[in-house]
Amino acid sequence: MYQKMYEPFRIGNVEIKNRLVCSAIFERAAADGRITEKIEERYRKLAEGGSGLILTGMQAVCASGRKGPDMVTTDYDGYTADMRRIADEAHRSGAKIFVQLQHCGAQTSPEEGYDHFAVCGTRKPDGTIYHEAAGEELKKLAADFGAAAGRCKAAGADGVQIHCTHGYLLNTFLSPSTNHRTDAYGGPIENRARILFEVCEAVRESVGEGYPVAVKFSFSDLIENSITPEESLFVLKRLEELGMDMEEISSGMVLDGSPRSFSPFVKAGVNEAPFLRSAEAVAEQVRIPVVSVCGYRSPELVERVLETTKIAAVAFGRPLICEPDLPNRWKSDPAPSRCLSCNQCRKTAEQFGIVTCAVRGAGAV
Ligand SMILES: Cc1cc2nc3c(=O)[nH]c(=O)nc-3n(C[C@H](O)[C@H](O)[C@H](O)COP(=O)(O)O)c2cc1C
Repeated sequence: MYQKMYEPFRIGNVEIKNRLVCSAIFERAAADGRITEKIEERYRKLAEGGSGLILTGMQAVCASGRKGPDMVTTDYDGYTADMRRIADEAHRSGAKIFVQLQHCGAQTSPEEGYDHFAVCGTRKPDGTIYHEAAGEELKKLAADFGAAAGRCKAAGADGVQIHCTHGYLLNTFLSPSTNHRTDAYGGPIENRARILFEVCEAVRESVGEGYPVAVKFSFSDLIENSITPEESLFVLKRLEELGMDMEEISSGMVLDGSPRSFSPFVKAGVNEAPFLRSAEAVAEQVRIPVVSVCGYRSPELVERVLETTKIAAVAFGRPLICEPDLPNRWKSDPAPSRCLSCNQCRKTAEQFGIVTCAVRGAGAV
């Protein structure tokens, strides 16, 4: 029925069996940072469901950079063994798996009690104070990303993805709306992107040549005083020069809790793929594979995008929470994703112990 979406493609040295990617979903199911059985089950179901590449939910490079204890933290004793079980399961079903690496910056949880830093000093409405990240802290940040990537490689993950989107720490350096620094990390885009480049270099140095390193990037912040398209293209081209192997193009700055990066308004056949144009613009400018994410619901659209643009693959977040076997289903059943984009999945972890589909409940992931 559909062909292009089931053709393999390569990210660096790794062959991905099809062009249907599971985008990162923060599972909210870790136990004080540790991988749990529920998390393992989620990735087993997703791999069995046919996704060619699975991006894990964001995992913190260090405990002080996590959103809370329900977020996987890559630096606990035993992480490598736990992550290896997930990678092995994914491989059994022919999927590849990349770990998404994150520091939450001003979205770290106040209850954690760390000395929090952010791009600039700020005080949250709940009273939490984040100080402006100092030079030494930024050095350590890059080293933490590098060390975390090394652990993922040791665990048998097929690659890593650096999170630079949705208002988390690295994204807030890129955006002029949040970066008001006056040192070498603020001002022109070369400066605002400096920490991202340093993180990418540290990760590459840690994992060596040939190991896939991807970046998820907000092309636009979707607010006033956003990074501009020209600036985004400058950064994305430089990331290719720095040896990054794949770019996933998102948008949106979720600092105030607004869900623009996972729009509640997307409806199958009506207004799908709001960030398609920016992904197309990037794919015209770089030679590494570009993955387009957000709002894909109809297989016809996915197939058309893959057939008619330079975009290498399409990624799905909520549709795979709702139906982890969507890639397999579309082989015989062209009905669009059953995801209603209601965004209630965000609130399900309390009830189910892991983010799941609020409509389909525990049958989904
Ligand atoms: C519950 C939930 C958790 C998410 N967690 C992450 C995450 O950990 N990392 C990330 O980069 N994006 C995260 N996202 C965004 C998705 O990866 C994706 O970019 C977004 O949902 C849009 O795609 P969709 O329309 O296919 O859902 C999350 C989205 C949702 C709804």
